[in-house]
Amino acid sequence: MSQKLNLPIRPRRNRKSEAVRGLSRETVLCPSDLIYPLFIHEDESNDPIESMPGCSRWSLSGLVKEVGEAYAAGVRAVVFFPKIEESLKSPRGEECFNPDGLVPRAIVAVKKAYPDMVVITDVALDPYNSDGHDGIVEAGENGEFRILNDETVEVLCRQALCHADAGADIVSPSDMMDGRVGAIRATFDQSDHEEVLILSYTAKYASAYYGPFRGALDSAPKAGDKKTYQMDPANSREALREADLDVAEGADIIMVKPAGPYLDIVSLLRDSVDVPIAAYQVSGEYLMIKSAAKDGWIDEEKVAMESLLGIKRAGADMILTYFAKDVASRLSG
Ligand code: PBG
Repeated sequence: MSQKLNLPIRPRRNRKSEAVRGLSRETVLCPSDLIYPLFIHEDESNDPIESMPGCSRWSLSGLVKEVGEAYAAGVRAVVFFPKIEESLKSPRGEECFNPDGLVPRAIVAVKKAYPDMVVITDVALDPYNSDGHDGIVEAGENGEFRILNDETVEVLCRQALCHADAGADIVSPSDMMDGRVGAIRATFDQSDHEEVLILSYTAKYASAYYGPFRGALDSAPKAGDKKTYQMDPANSREALREADLDVAEGADIIMVKPAGPYLDIVSLLRDSVDVPIAAYQVSGEYLMIKSAAKDGWIDEEKVAMESLLGIKRAGADMILTYFAKDVASRLSG
């Protein structure tokens, strides 16, 4: 007979049964935490995206149907990413504020069918810019180029206004230009859109995890990389600086992106600002889970759920994830 240990404190008691574990569970994931990113295009067909298995580029009617399924599963927020035809792309990306463009029409269609679905739009030039950058490119000598900050912000304000006019609930600048949150807030306040939220991509890192997304939209930069505007993955203090600025400029929600490899940043910002925090589980994070699960190496449902729980535990109030519809239906089912 083995000797009983003298252990007055036994943490395992709190894990005794599912019911006991339930009593002391600190983090619970809910469908209402999730934001579902959706790709759209002009075509009539819904085309599966090769680089992102399980995701499609939706036609407008396909979009409304997919949003309806997500709504039924309990998802209450969606964000749109458009694939823009090559012929509509230009150096200054003017198509981004065309009131008859793809995104404004998608906003109207979804709000009409599901008025209480929160519609979020991405504000950045990359889908519209013939150079594939989030801002306007000024070419220099020997292939050198600059991304023009202030000129870009002007266009972003017109894009944000166009989305607000069409009925977007939240605009989400993902471009990382300096001063864009304040400029968009001022634009909204001058045009009776003071109720539209700004969800700012605050700590958006220059990450290789965005690869599959750029494949989905055909939006990769034609030259160079995004390191003069997206943040250096080596830095965390810079995230604090960006967060202070975005909050001061009027951001309602701030975002960390990617999510999984940057949980320290989520937690850092959670401890230092009072606004809600969003985290984006990006295309590369999604694809890694999908591909490992495809060959049976991991259990997709469990790993997807655990990855999202970890992001919430780190301090995210809401999570953008391509798993949103599936996870929500499992949570509410
Ligand atoms: C572009 C944008 C990107 C993503 C969201 N908005 C790509 C980029 O910055 O190059 C990436 C999302 C993902 O990888 O899932 N403004």
